[in-house]
Amino acid sequence: MPITRLQISGYRSVRRLSMELGPMNVIVGANGSGKTNLYRALYLLSVAAEGRLARTLAEEGGTPSVLWAGPRMAKKPVRLSVEVELGELAYELTCGIIPFQPAPIEARDPFYLDPEVKTEHLWALSGGRKVVLMERKDRTAFMRDAEGKRATFSSELWSAESVLDQLGEPHRFPRLSEVQRTFASWRFYHHFRTDPDAPMRHPRVGVRTPVLSHDGADLAAALRTILHIGDARGLEQGIDDAFPGAELEIHSEQGRFSVLLHMPGLSRPMAAAELSDGTLRYLCLLAALLSPRPPSFLALNEPETSLHPDLLEPLGRLLAKASKTSQVWVTTHAEQLARTVASATRCEPVYLVKKDGATQVEGRSEEDDDEPDDDA
Ligand SMILES: Nc1ncnc2c1ncn2[C@@H]1O[C@H](COP(=O)(O)OP(=O)(O)O)[C@@H](O)[C@H]1O
Ligand SMILES: [Mg+2]
Repeated sequence: MPITRLQISGYRSVRRLSMELGPMNVIVGANGSGKTNLYRALYLLSVAAEGRLARTLAEEGGTPSVLWAGPRMAKKPVRLSVEVELGELAYELTCGIIPFQPAPIEARDPFYLDPEVKTEHLWALSGGRKVVLMERKDRTAFMRDAEGKRATFSSELWSAESVLDQLGEPHRFPRLSEVQRTFASWRFYHHFRTDPDAPMRHPRVGVRTPVLSHDGADLAAALRTILHIGDARGLEQGIDDAFPGAELEIHSEQGRFSVLLHMPGLSRPMAAAELSDGTLRYLCLLAALLSPRPPSFLALNEPETSLHPDLLEPLGRLLAKASKTSQVWVTTHAEQLARTVASATRCEPVYLVKKDGATQVEGRSEEDDDEPDDDA
């Protein structure tokens, strides 16, 4: 189920924004334009599907700090909302905060950083109409089961988490369950750890690893898995495209794997501990993008970080290739990367700008977005 449209409101610098998505999505913008905020908004859906919404928002500073801090209409409740269309289905999640309590600090709710899920919807889209399949208001929800019968859950829901992770019975609510599994299967890569103590720089227990971990700790095992059961030729070509003449070797000793790179002109291979941050990050990107188990949706936030400019074109080609098996989302401030992807895929980049503190798609105003502006 690819994402066909994304709509965000009230989240960090996004006051309101709506955009269509295709197989390849390159989001370009200057520092502070809100690229990472868009990436994070999508990430929220994936953690909501796994019951980690409250924790994730708390780690971002708590719900009060992630809500749009710009001007709002007085008396209007403060809300953060993320909605996606997945072809024939649409899902929406809206959160607020626990209302401010004028009580002394020790008498306040100690979990005031938690979000309060206010509404959630799942709709079937047909002929321009939205048919409600699930509707949640606060702690109560109703949903239609596989036969179309209405089932109600009164005051049963945990207010800080999405309904997606709280209802079992996948056979009874197959479409809700499909959306939950879809969100949970999305893959996000934001930062690969390459400091001297980073696990990827040291030998690690090697097990078959079709999916690289989010921080790249299991890089050697993920690369070896590609060589063993995946697109080994693609990996070799990807390395040669980025580092001409270089050859990858995964050394194995007593069940521990480590990365070695043979470079032209050197008489011994370079170990992971000796490779530059940029080289290791590029190897991580290869492992993520050539995964033998490609996800339906793969998002990379600013993958150009600490890469040499010469690597941007090879990375662009790699992204274009990945978009044949996964829907790909990349945020970047590297124009050259956006141009390479655009020429290889014919998908035009989306440029973000900030206007009055709010993130917008260049050339569009908030008023162009679908929903009526009941907020201004
Ligand atoms: N709650 C908020 N309300 C409004 N703006 C916010 C909020 N939180 C962060 N921002 C703004 O978001 C911007 C950072 O967005 P980010 O997505 O990290 O940018 P980048 O394009 O560099 O990735 C900053 O300008 C910051 O001021
Ligand atoms: Mg950023």
